[in-house]
Amino acid sequence: MNKVRDFVIKPHEALAEHLSDDMEAVNALIAERMASKHAPRIPEVTRHLVDAGGKRLRPMLTLAAARLCGYDGPYHHHLAATVEFIHTATLLHDDVVDESGQRRGRPTANLLWDNKSSVLVGDYLFSRSFQLMVETGNLRVLDILANASATIAEGEVLQLTAAQDLKTDEAIYLQVVRGKTAALFSAATEVGGVIAGADEDVVKALFDYGDKLGIAFQIVDDLLDYEGDAKATGKNVGDDFRERKLTLPVIKAIAKADHEERAFWKRTIEKGRQEDGDLEHALDLLAKHDALIDTRKDAIAYIDQAKSAMARVPAHPLRDMLINLTDYVVARIN
Ligand code: IPE
Ligand code: IPE
Ligand code: MG
Ligand code: MG
Repeated sequence: MNKVRDFVIKPHEALAEHLSDDMEAVNALIAERMASKHAPRIPEVTRHLVDAGGKRLRPMLTLAAARLCGYDGPYHHHLAATVEFIHTATLLHDDVVDESGQRRGRPTANLLWDNKSSVLVGDYLFSRSFQLMVETGNLRVLDILANASATIAEGEVLQLTAAQDLKTDEAIYLQVVRGKTAALFSAATEVGGVIAGADEDVVKALFDYGDKLGIAFQIVDDLLDYEGDAKATGKNVGDDFRERKLTLPVIKAIAKADHEERAFWKRTIEKGRQEDGDLEHALDLLAKHDALIDTRKDAIAYIDQAKSAMARVPAHPLRDMLINLTDYVVARIN
């Protein structure tokens, strides 16, 4: 690990440390609500994924937003658990859709059990998340989280049609990413402010922060799919290429492709006729056109916007931690 990473990894841990009591309560709530009296397959599948950890980034965002707005009631725990349940449900569904084999360093549920179990347990967790948020009795947070759930599904469906189409440009990519990933980040921070009864301009700033951070987070996820280490990410490297997913690095390389390179992308991504050595060639093309470097620059531009949004929130130690967290999101290796 290099010096820069040693420095920037800490914000994530500092936040976890600061919120450890709250997170303990959230983890207890998650464990309690993932139970099922009637179908043992549910806790089996859920435990497999939940016990593998995960960064718990989204529930921490909710807790931090609520706390920095001065909240001291009990419902930020319900909201944080809701957000993590929605996240977990989307992971179960996403791994079926993407036919992924590894998640959080373990074989995926669809591989260990089957697609049916992943889809149905994902549905169960979605429903549990709705029960949790109803308990807050706050209609506005219900509205925000219900909207976010619909937007995530919309983003994943949009990706189905956009992913293998070489005409997909950066604007469409942004639309997909805003939907499938940033919608939950922005809802996570927004509901924290709403449950705390924060001023509207603060709620809006929290939303903007989550939106920009979520976009940067997914851009980096797409980078790690090409340049990450599977041991650290807990996911297979090269999955997006094999799944023929047109992510930002590839969109950038295609924009600069000559005739021959275009034919390569057309064969591998559009037609899906992949051969041995194609992933290596794709990586060469990404390097040739600085596509990974430029993608990282875009992620940095989004975290700069996230920082500016957070600067609109009143001073608080948690505000500074959230500002520092943005650097972790770009430097993260897992
Ligand atoms: C994975 O999210 C899905 C994406 C939006 C890229 P995380 O990387 O936050 O997953 P866990 O919860 O830490 O496993
Ligand atoms: C992440 O999509 C977004 C959701 C799970 C809704 P990806 O397919 O890019 O994420 P990973 O790489 O599987 O975690
Ligand atoms: Mg996936
Ligand atoms: Mg990915």
